[in-house]
Amino acid sequence: MNEIQARSRIEELTREIDHHNYRYYALSDPEISDGEFDRLLKELENLEKEFPQFAFPDSPSRRIGGTITREFKTVKHKYPMLSLGNTYSPEEILEFDARIRKIVDGPFHYVCELKFDGVAIGLTYKNGRLFQAVTRGDGEKGDDVTANVRTIRSIPLRLRKSSFPDEFEIRGEIFMPHRSFERINNEMAAQLREDGYNEQEIGEKLLKNPRNAASGTIKMQDSSVVAMRNLDCYLYFVLCEPAVFRTHYESLIAAREWGFKVCEHMKRCSGTEEVEAFIRHWDTARHTLPYDTDGVVIKVDDLSLQKDLGFTAKSPRWAIAYKFKAETVCTELISISYQVGRTGAVTPVANLKPVHLAGTTVKRATLHNADQISKLDLRIGDHVYVEKGGEIIPKITGVNLSRRKADALPVEYISQCPECHTPLERKEGEALHYCPNINGCPPQIRGRIEHFISRKAMDIDSLGEGKIELLFDRGLIHTPADLYRLTHEDLLGLEKVFQPEDGNKVRRISLQEKSVEKILKGIQASRSVPFERVLYAIGIRYVGETVARKLAQHFKNMDSISHATVEELTGVEEIGEKIAESVYDFFRQTSGMKFIGELKKAGLQMEVAENATTVVLSDRLAGQAFVISGVFSNFSRDELKALIVQNGGKIQSGVTGKTSYLVAGEEPGPSKLEKAREHNVPVLTETEFLTMINRK
Ligand code: IVH
Repeated sequence: MNEIQARSRIEELTREIDHHNYRYYALSDPEISDGEFDRLLKELENLEKEFPQFAFPDSPSRRIGGTITREFKTVKHKYPMLSLGNTYSPEEILEFDARIRKIVDGPFHYVCELKFDGVAIGLTYKNGRLFQAVTRGDGEKGDDVTANVRTIRSIPLRLRKSSFPDEFEIRGEIFMPHRSFERINNEMAAQLREDGYNEQEIGEKLLKNPRNAASGTIKMQDSSVVAMRNLDCYLYFVLCEPAVFRTHYESLIAAREWGFKVCEHMKRCSGTEEVEAFIRHWDTARHTLPYDTDGVVIKVDDLSLQKDLGFTAKSPRWAIAYKFKAETVCTELISISYQVGRTGAVTPVANLKPVHLAGTTVKRATLHNADQISKLDLRIGDHVYVEKGGEIIPKITGVNLSRRKADALPVEYISQCPECHTPLERKEGEALHYCPNINGCPPQIRGRIEHFISRKAMDIDSLGEGKIELLFDRGLIHTPADLYRLTHEDLLGLEKVFQPEDGNKVRRISLQEKSVEKILKGIQASRSVPFERVLYAIGIRYVGETVARKLAQHFKNMDSISHATVEELTGVEEIGEKIAESVYDFFRQTSGMKFIGELKKAGLQMEVAENATTVVLSDRLAGQAFVISGVFSNFSRDELKALIVQNGGKIQSGVTGKTSYLVAGEEPGPSKLEKAREHNVPVLTETEFLTMINRK
């Protein structure tokens, strides 16, 4: 291909891909399959690589970020970013309407829109290109978050050929769809759980709700992380001078044609009755939407009327927000159960009479700890109010005292472990009770073994929760070290009916020749797992993957770590007091040292390999699992795998729910692509992957 041909093909592809992005992200109505789209993008990427002089600065291939912003520039808004007056009842809507009718003669329309629960953003376009994206800030000045906003695929970098003004601003709401929110929190929770945090600590660290998640994400310094968080954006307000539209509704329809994502659920209404019907409908229907809304915004449609009505100091007189009430239901508290985690932490859980709430059936609610129960003054059989306020797990907010039975007794918090009956302990200043029977309490023992075999630790995937329970029940394993003593005879023919804790289906486990072989092979293979992962696997509290890697790199072997003082430990990058003390204590307990001795005897790696070929380039991919498929243009598959490992990532052979990314080259395996789609695993091109690790 010569330069002229390349240039025109790059232009053509850029236009086509922009168009398909628009169909997919703005209209949710794609015209081509994901595979066809990926082929176009690939072709563009290849051409841009060969002819970089013709690549557009805002090419659709550059949506994956890579810029680091140390401090966001403050920008003054051209038009102040006001907020809206809030209303909570139909009467207040009538009052709003009456105020308008005092000023406006004759009939007029309202436009009702959903009130998206995210962060407001103002986007300025110059000559059809995204120029700047600024947050609301204090309404007068906001932060320039353009680099982060450029990664949001539903926000056009270049507008579609259409009659847009040379310069204008459009405002909208950046939000995190439920799917992204759940994916990120699941990944974070799994990681924290493996790092030894208890459920309470995990709960505190997770993203609280999609709105917080969106506002935190948009202010992140690394735009490539923003790119991975899948934010989205609805636009709802066009500002331009001179005004080119007659009505607000028209302006939004035009904005959609220019390439913006405008919500399809807006409605032009001719009076308060229609407005109220819209509100009634969405008060319940909102629970079926894949994003959060916290109300309805009602705007006068006619722009010249808007001008007549003007603004108060804080908000426009021509618009108002109606806020939905957080949905609360009342149901019966049947019982309280107590769960014991691998660290011995006890968490109380309320078992409720199943009830429908905000689109799901709720059977359980968190109670956090003993203080929470006494604060609510709960009694079994009480009718309790349950609310889902943006958080994932519903909570009990109060008790309907009028329905309390006279003889109902206050809940007495357990004083013994529900599993091993050891008296519980509660340390000064801690909210949680702990079972101190570290070496005798079944869920703690099983939890430690489950952690030991987990993917990021020893990766013995031929064992799982059910098989661990089976081996534990038969008295075959008590510590992870016992795994290395298991024989063929021990295992063959063992059977169990297994009921998973998470309420999943009951399974029958039966160990036959083939699975026994697989288990033993997996255990054998784990003997060559590198030292840093052994260090992670032993499950010292707060020693996650990264900490284990840092400790291994610094001290080189188990003996040195076990002798290190707290000062020496805190001297290592990223190791604070809390972690250092936990490591120090572990090696001062007889059980800790005995365990390490047994693992040593079993032949596990106790030091960093002499000839360790693993070059550490970065930990950008730490905690992420990759599957690669297809043929790549810059690297062989092995080279690509090495790059993943060198940047802290893991390689998996097949796509599962735990895969973070599928990196697909030319002609990737169709079943891998299918699996990726099934598990919602993002598919990266080679270029996208390289940008992720800063190689482009
Ligand atoms: S219009 C001058 N429309 O709600 C009026 N705002 O409480 C500009 N919001 O700051 C706002 N969805 O962040 C408008 N469909 C919608 C909205 C919306 C959410 C947010 C926006 C605004 C806040 C006001």
